[in-house]
Amino acid sequence: MHTGKTILITGANGFVGSRLSRYLHEHTGWTVRGIGRRPGPCVDTVADITRDRDLEEIGSRFADVDAVIHTAAVSRPYDCDADPDTCRKVNVQATGDLATQFPDAAFLFFSTYAVYNRKEGSSTEETPVAPTNLYIATKLGGEGQVARSPNHVILRPSVIFGYSTTAHDNYFMTLLRAVREGREMVSPADQFFNPVHVEVVSRLVRDVIALGLSGVFNIGCNEQMSKYEFNRAVLDRFGLQSVPVKCGSTDGIPRPMNATISSEKIQRAVGYRIPSFPEMLDMLFAECQGLEWGADARSVAEGSMGKMKR
Ligand SMILES: NC(=O)c1ccc[n+]([C@@H]2O[C@H](COP(=O)([O-])OP(=O)(O)OC[C@H]3O[C@@H](n4cnc5c(N)ncnc54)[C@H](OP(=O)(O)O)[C@@H]3O)[C@@H](O)[C@H]2O)c1
Repeated sequence: MHTGKTILITGANGFVGSRLSRYLHEHTGWTVRGIGRRPGPCVDTVADITRDRDLEEIGSRFADVDAVIHTAAVSRPYDCDADPDTCRKVNVQATGDLATQFPDAAFLFFSTYAVYNRKEGSSTEETPVAPTNLYIATKLGGEGQVARSPNHVILRPSVIFGYSTTAHDNYFMTLLRAVREGREMVSPADQFFNPVHVEVVSRLVRDVIALGLSGVFNIGCNEQMSKYEFNRAVLDRFGLQSVPVKCGSTDGIPRPMNATISSEKIQRAVGYRIPSFPEMLDMLFAECQGLEWGADARSVAEGSMGKMKR
């Protein structure tokens, strides 16, 4: 089932791109290629997707790929607000230009769960979208671009967590860093979501490609929780019960009122039930013990725990 395909991943130095690349290497017989702005372990070709010449080179070099997984983006809302032009160029225009280079491949675009904004939450793929900030608006713009591709998949994942050594901290790494530096973590008790482990996202992406699915899919855990509850649960799982988490607002960026989603559609489509949140916390804990990621992960995890226990 998982042999013979060639897959191209953009954003291969990023958190999701690099973990996805490793996952597909380990769990399929597919040939996996990566594009990044700089060299890296998962990068075959260094390219800036906003440059026409780089895009043309990517298009001709990887003309035969079966699927493109487009994770490259200006992915942090405050970076989008700081440089709106670059944000629009990368998240909207370059997304469309990239898709145009691969008319015959499946094109999977990483959008975001934050496109929905309704009080009740539990948004399905049919729920109307209503962006609350520039980042979200440009991800929707990207969706509009890829929707023109005949064979497109739009993924709307909730916050993705996992150990990472990439340039940009993800949600979990921000927490880990705060603990490591002895800083108090402030997190909102009124922002709700469905965080999901990166290995689970990677498995779902693999299945979507293997089954040749198309359309829009939410991806998140089946439990709903606040960002405060998530941080508390992570710290507790790491034996850091004594580390306080303060309730409060983290930044002034407008976010959805209730960003919870339903991921029933993708689970039904691929025939796989997303593990429970405690199971995904166990996955996170295991990878931070260095079982998969070596001494670096182990020293960060042990260092942070040692520091906080003293
Ligand atoms: N992580 C989450 O919780 C989450 C949740 C929902 C949706 N998403 C979406 O999922 C995708 C992956 O997220 P992530 O957390 O992996 O983000 P990330 O770590 O910031 O990775 C994004 C990558 O895109 C690259 N990139 C940016 N501009 C580029 C350009 N002009 N040309 C080529 N590459 C460029 C960056 O390169 P540099 O490394 O050189 O900066 C970076 O490696 C994003 O589209 C994001 O919007 C993420």
